[in-house]
Amino acid sequence: MNYNFNETLDHRFTESMRWRQPEGRSDVLGMGTADLDFCCPPCVKEATLAVCEENIFNYRYKPDSYYQAIISWFDRKYGLAVNREWISSIPGTLSAIHMAVRLFSKPGNYVLMQTPYFTPLKAGIEGAGCRFLPNPMVLKEGRYELDFEDFEEKIRQYRPSLFLLVNPQNPTGRVFTMEELLRMVDICAKYNVRIISDEVHFLITYDGKKHIPIYAVSEKAREISILIFSYSKGFNIMSLPHAMVFIANRALREQWDRFVYAFNFNYASNSFCIAAVTAVASGAADAWLEELTLYLQNNRDRFIHAVKERSLPIVPLKPEASFLFWIDCRHSGIEAEKLDQVFLDRAGISLNNGLAHGEDGRGFVRMNFAVTEKNMQLALERMTGMFAKYE
Ligand SMILES: Cc1ncc(COP(=O)(O)O)c(C=O)c1O
Repeated sequence: MNYNFNETLDHRFTESMRWRQPEGRSDVLGMGTADLDFCCPPCVKEATLAVCEENIFNYRYKPDSYYQAIISWFDRKYGLAVNREWISSIPGTLSAIHMAVRLFSKPGNYVLMQTPYFTPLKAGIEGAGCRFLPNPMVLKEGRYELDFEDFEEKIRQYRPSLFLLVNPQNPTGRVFTMEELLRMVDICAKYNVRIISDEVHFLITYDGKKHIPIYAVSEKAREISILIFSYSKGFNIMSLPHAMVFIANRALREQWDRFVYAFNFNYASNSFCIAAVTAVASGAADAWLEELTLYLQNNRDRFIHAVKERSLPIVPLKPEASFLFWIDCRHSGIEAEKLDQVFLDRAGISLNNGLAHGEDGRGFVRMNFAVTEKNMQLALERMTGMFAKYE
């Protein structure tokens, strides 16, 4: 290993959203919100230090090197030829999605989405005055599968304006295959449904699973979809406000460009964001990301193995991507509504109740494993103690 993921800040005292301690406590492990505990790759520090050295924060265009880095990333990783015209940026993924929902649907329209879901996306759909249309995924032998019959039937019956795809999926950790993506695209194209594809969790995938951007699926996919992603979730640059929007379809892009013009986001993704994104997209952190993925995979596999070995009454599903466990606690004897509180009170672990991801999350919790090995082990020991006392 060339990078040390074991050493990091004590996030309890850095105003980290995930680690902020509840009133009167200082022992709680922050394992909720989806960011990472690790320092960024060295190239991020170098690139942002150079911005500091200049100490000038005037209005600026994005340099060619920024566009070239992003275009080369998609070429290297996916063999996808991205046209510079497709690219725009917005300070955050969620804001980009919410803007796209507002632009490409009307109040009262249905927006289709797989469930269990990531709550702020549903809030965005409803905030735009649209109606949330669920396409529940089906849990089969520890893996969530798409229900295509329901998918097509919902589209046929409710005629949604949009399908909001989340790939890799949060919270289930599924990475959709080419076959699944082709099928979703075909059905959407058949009924004239546009796709917004949220790919923010695309950087970390396991066990040889490969993320496929919606734009690498087919020409048809490029015609009907809007691709939204960010480099934040893999490189831990969430608070450098920068998400990317690709729109290949000229008519949709013109609509989008007119819509975003008034917001004047040109400089909202500031010089630090541009420098950091240019550095990581150019490949300077590829080796770092590979090592991080192995580190996280080790956290994932050791936890799953230990839970089984210790016969804990919970089942962590094996995520194919990102760093979020979706843990089945339906046989834990703990009331679904109280799961997060019980983990907090009895194990000092702060995580998310599955119910926050919709009714399909009843009896589940979501737990972030992008923590140091030491904290992962501590979480395991505390859970073991908690269940020993609970029986
Ligand atoms: C599926 C999904 N979309 C969007 C976001 C938020 O991204 P951003 O912080 O860039 O708004 C998250 C964060 O966890 C997420 O899981």
